[in-house]
Amino acid sequence: MPSMQDPQTVSPIGRDTPRIDGPRKVSGQAQYTSDFHFPGMLYAMPVCATIANGKIVRLDTSAAEKMPGVRAILHRENIGKIFRSTVQPNFEGICEERRPPFEDDIIRYYGQYIALAVADTFETAKAAADAVHATYSKEKPNVETHLEADDDSDLVLTSFGPRHRLDSHRGDPDAAFASAPVKLDQTYVTPSETHNPMETHATTAIWEGSTLTLYDSSQGVVNYRSVLAQMFGLPNENVRVIAKFVGSGFGDKLFPWTHCPLAAAAARQVGRPVRLVLSRKMMFFGVGHRPRTQQRVRIGATPEGKLLSLQHDYIYQRSILDAHHEDCGEATPFTDSVPNLRVTFGRAQRNIGAGADMRGPGAVPGMYATEAAMNELAFQLKIDPVKLRLMNEPKIDEGLKLPFSSRHLAECLQLGAEKFGWAKRTPAVGSMKRDGMTLGWGMAGCTWLAARFGAAANLQLRDDGSVRVACATQDIGTGTYTILAQLASEKTGAPLDKVEVALGDSSLPDGPISGGSMATGSVVPAVFSAADSAISSLLMVAATTPGSPFVGRKPDELAFEKGTVFIKADGRAKCVPFGEVLQHTKLRLVTGAGRADSTFGDPKAKFSTHSFGCHFAEVTWEPEIARLRVSRVVTVIDAGRIINPLAGRNQIQGAVVMGIGMALLEHTSYDPQNGAPINSSMADYIVAVNADVPPIEVHFLDFPDKVLNEVGARGIGEIGLAGIAAAITDAVRHATGVRVRELPVKIEDLLD
Ligand code: MOS
Repeated sequence: MPSMQDPQTVSPIGRDTPRIDGPRKVSGQAQYTSDFHFPGMLYAMPVCATIANGKIVRLDTSAAEKMPGVRAILHRENIGKIFRSTVQPNFEGICEERRPPFEDDIIRYYGQYIALAVADTFETAKAAADAVHATYSKEKPNVETHLEADDDSDLVLTSFGPRHRLDSHRGDPDAAFASAPVKLDQTYVTPSETHNPMETHATTAIWEGSTLTLYDSSQGVVNYRSVLAQMFGLPNENVRVIAKFVGSGFGDKLFPWTHCPLAAAAARQVGRPVRLVLSRKMMFFGVGHRPRTQQRVRIGATPEGKLLSLQHDYIYQRSILDAHHEDCGEATPFTDSVPNLRVTFGRAQRNIGAGADMRGPGAVPGMYATEAAMNELAFQLKIDPVKLRLMNEPKIDEGLKLPFSSRHLAECLQLGAEKFGWAKRTPAVGSMKRDGMTLGWGMAGCTWLAARFGAAANLQLRDDGSVRVACATQDIGTGTYTILAQLASEKTGAPLDKVEVALGDSSLPDGPISGGSMATGSVVPAVFSAADSAISSLLMVAATTPGSPFVGRKPDELAFEKGTVFIKADGRAKCVPFGEVLQHTKLRLVTGAGRADSTFGDPKAKFSTHSFGCHFAEVTWEPEIARLRVSRVVTVIDAGRIINPLAGRNQIQGAVVMGIGMALLEHTSYDPQNGAPINSSMADYIVAVNADVPPIEVHFLDFPDKVLNEVGARGIGEIGLAGIAAAITDAVRHATGVRVRELPVKIEDLLD
């Protein structure tokens, strides 16, 4: 007899939901790339160049080859064919370093792979790699920190496609600046920063005939498959990429790097599975970094604070062969209302590995500069910086000349000011004290793009009342397993503990990269349409299959709600849980497939889609002992509907922690003599740790943005890192009187 299943009475969307994969992580059952073991697996260790510019004259592998347990030493002469890859439609085929490993004997950056040792054990592989001896002809590397734009034409090719160096233009910014009664002209510098996820990059490659399986710590298994298929001349279906758990990635794991084909080539050569794990030191060479930037910002304004002209001209460092674009001007055309504007960029080649996206690429260094400039303008005009922003709030996106899908920056500023207690701020330097310490207060706005990548999903309703949802996206620690479960639960009525989530495998329906803060927004419509399709299959089965309590009805006389099927005319009183319908019809499951298109970079978009927010930061300064601490942060984010506020707050808090690092600690320095990253260890590359992190209060507004998807959810992975450094540097200025325009703020900057 049909019986009432406990229907889920409250929607799982918008509720604090602990990660469904949490128990697997804390009990050690979650398998990261290096946790998968295979019979006969060998270990590979790259040999890294110890010069940054020059040529290999001789490579002596004889000692390494003779070591017991060494299976192969791969180099240019014996690696076998690896092809180049190219970008494909639908945001596929992307990688930031196109040159396959060992393609030539030229060294372009310190740490470039020149050989690979393959051995029975990790220790032997390491010893053999150390025993490979290279002789070089050296030239002085160019790692110069002052950036002058190279002589590029206006249209340049970047990793994602061509870009005009005149990026945005309106009105007459030069004339408006020249005649403006108030002027600001400053240059801001952000350093190279290196991604340091807890789990270093790792690849395990296994060949079976002409099929290649790669276990990798990847933020994008589908794109990865496409790149590796190209590099080994295989059809896509012969390559499978698996990333079940990722020990975080900040953009460094978005696209495959050179060690990935290296592991695959080694496995091909020795006919055994091969695992290659990068050392922490190698993380500083060939898996990307946030490039150094130098950004000139010119603002012309009225004495009342109305912007007249804004010019943002930036230069970033790039590698010798590659074309990562650091899009610092991404947010500049639409953040504030200004009739005259110009955004341009230039690039400066250096003997450093390829740059890459790093959490909030482009806009994060970009908004440090533009928001710091707005704070300087407010100071110059003696206007409250919150008021200055409110005064220049645009009605539409003046760059695209499109309405915003949803923009509530003004509400963010008001709520942030109220929660922080901003009204109590006294503007004079050093005028605020607590417990014998000098306080500094600063603030800044932030924004980040919102869009969808194309995504597909499938969803099964099963006879035990459980649901399986599958999509080839990844969970990089942000909570994607849980989001997929929440979405499936919302549509099917199955409680979260009856939803199985499959992701992190390129053999699943194509899913988005975990990047651009776009994974969640992208999977919503794919999962919802997969659920709708599974539900219509179920209703068809219920209406037509012998044994069903509804047999003889037309499918459109039936309805599905809260996990149950019922006759519309009778209402839910006589509903039957979907599991029972399937049992009666002797079906184990019905499956639905769904897909949704990309909106990313859509030239026909009718709306400008972005998230907005602001940060209020407090620092404490003790001049006697030169101690500077961030003591309090309040962040307000307008990111549409938040599907999981618990995970959402985690994301913003994590981003603010990175922002403290960006403002006060993080930078990668390259040795002018040999081009090596000097501080290439966790002892020397300083990131914010628990002791650096104050209470971080996060508030979300709740304005669902239905332009993006049915739930109204925009992304939250990156926006929390935009603007925070400008808020902190202004707080430092308020406390100390010192305006630092080159990150990170160093104690020596603050000593007179
Ligand atoms: Mo993020 S830099 O898009 O991984």
